[in-house]
Amino acid sequence: MTAPSNFDVLVIGSGASGLSLALSLAAHVRVAVVSKAAIEESATLYAQGGVSAVVDQADSIESHVSDTLDAGGGLCDVDVVEFIVQRGRDRIQWLIDHGVPFTTQESPDGTIDFHLTREGGHSRRRVVHAADATGRAIETTLVEQVRAHPGISIFERYMAVDLITLAKLGITPDRCVGAYVLDLDNNVVRTITAKCSVLTTGGAGKVYLYTSNPDVATGDGIAMAWRAGCAVANMEFVQFHPTCLYHPKAKSFLLTEALRGEGGRLLLQSGEPFMHNYDERQELAPRDIVARAIDHEMKRSGAEHVFVDVTHKPAAFLRDHFPTVLERCASFGIDITTSPIPAVPAAHYLCGGVVTDVFGRTSLNNLFAVGEVACTGLHGANRMASNSLLECLVLADSAAARILSDLQKIEQPDHIPDWDDSQVTDADEEIVVAHNWDELRRFMWDYVGIVRSNKRLERARNRVDLLHNEISEFYGNFRITGDLIELRNLVQVAELIIRSALKRKESRGLHYTLDYPNRDDKNYARGTILRAGDFS
Ligand code: FAD
Ligand code: SIN
Repeated sequence: MTAPSNFDVLVIGSGASGLSLALSLAAHVRVAVVSKAAIEESATLYAQGGVSAVVDQADSIESHVSDTLDAGGGLCDVDVVEFIVQRGRDRIQWLIDHGVPFTTQESPDGTIDFHLTREGGHSRRRVVHAADATGRAIETTLVEQVRAHPGISIFERYMAVDLITLAKLGITPDRCVGAYVLDLDNNVVRTITAKCSVLTTGGAGKVYLYTSNPDVATGDGIAMAWRAGCAVANMEFVQFHPTCLYHPKAKSFLLTEALRGEGGRLLLQSGEPFMHNYDERQELAPRDIVARAIDHEMKRSGAEHVFVDVTHKPAAFLRDHFPTVLERCASFGIDITTSPIPAVPAAHYLCGGVVTDVFGRTSLNNLFAVGEVACTGLHGANRMASNSLLECLVLADSAAARILSDLQKIEQPDHIPDWDDSQVTDADEEIVVAHNWDELRRFMWDYVGIVRSNKRLERARNRVDLLHNEISEFYGNFRITGDLIELRNLVQVAELIIRSALKRKESRGLHYTLDYPNRDDKNYARGTILRAGDFS
């Protein structure tokens, strides 16, 4: 591995957004991809359901747009939704051209078409997939291409710590000129300079005790952008996936919504269905409605879980279409062909993030953000299933085009100072980090979860303020570690979620509060935008 130094473009993160962006740029410019774990490790790797796109002749852009707007609770940006939905088919073709093996089926007339699944909020089958391991198919295919590309330098186990901005160096006008990254294997902070930097760091599910997300989802990109002065929006809209496997050893395992798309029922422990009491679309209502219904039923009955039941389907169908779910459940002694699967909601997706336009441009010059880290206006108050990977792929493409046209005009400053840790010592109390991490995730789950209230949010704000101070002191005095960087970022993201939730005095989409149970279009039909200086 070469030592990192100066590149045209620095891509921070290696999920669907980062890898597709790097591949789109690398024929023209020198690209660095830094990734804080093994390159494959990402939410993308675990995506099950698929990518929503209008590929069926009987489907229409209007229908996909309309379903997305409906799920988004009045907060989607219509122009952005149209921009992204219109480009879905083209991005699926791009993935196929790069070798992603989507599941197909033979039509009655002998032609081969995509097999499409259906998920919550979609009025028809529209989800292109690779069995129930779509993310793995995309991630591993793109990793192979990125590894083979001579224009891309990969830095695995390099964790971005903070963006380098001219403002921090006392120079105006402000812009991003790279990032400080911690080489985790050698414990050294290195400087990577670049004409453009792109955050593709994914979401922040690890801010909650129970989540479908992998360990890398610690909100680093949002926290770094916030510290660099970027605007952040809609952080109160945290999506809880209705169905994660309930089992003491099944950390983070998702039961894809496609199970319900194939007729899977949600059942109480008594075996009774209940979704008909909540929404006429029943099991295929948008996620906010289904997760809240499950939460309500669990609290009402005191049950620790509900069930997803797919036993109506032939065993051969389940083996073909849901091999990942079938095998994982079998490893815990659950045969999904004969038994209902215990399920609970868990934090899954952050609809909010760094504010960008449809080219991934943030409010800081030469800094872009693409994928779950960003808030483009596609998802509004609630993301529709399988629209995330679509957004990653479309925005990576449009951001790449914009970056290439911007690059010629950008000059790098002569000198950028290296990271200075001459004033800090090694931490003597690593246990503090572990305890604070645990405390944060528990109170976020208890007070800032599926159902909120003023009192719970105020309690959370008090606790996060204390943690923020403690972590800042720790960060200022001790040599940084990966865990400390992630905790610092999680606390920042938690604070942004809590502050945004306190601002929205209504219930809409994924934000439901007992104190204001109704939607209030007169006062709150807009995003919640936070800017540096709104609070210290
Ligand atoms: P990610 O894929 O999460 O990648 C982020 C990358 O950034 C990782 O490589 C990470 O290591 C790296 N990183 C983070 N911080 C740093 C740092 N400080 N320094 C260096 N590197 C860093 N969406 C759909 O549309 N369809 C689905 O079927 C679907 N299923 C899902 C199933 C599961 C279990 C989960 C968790 C999510 C699912 N989603 C699905 C959501 C979707 O997978 C994600 O929103 C999407 O993959 C995000 O892609 P990304 O490129 O933005 O980020
Ligand atoms: C799933 O397969 O249920 C996840 C789909 C998504 O989050 O978009």
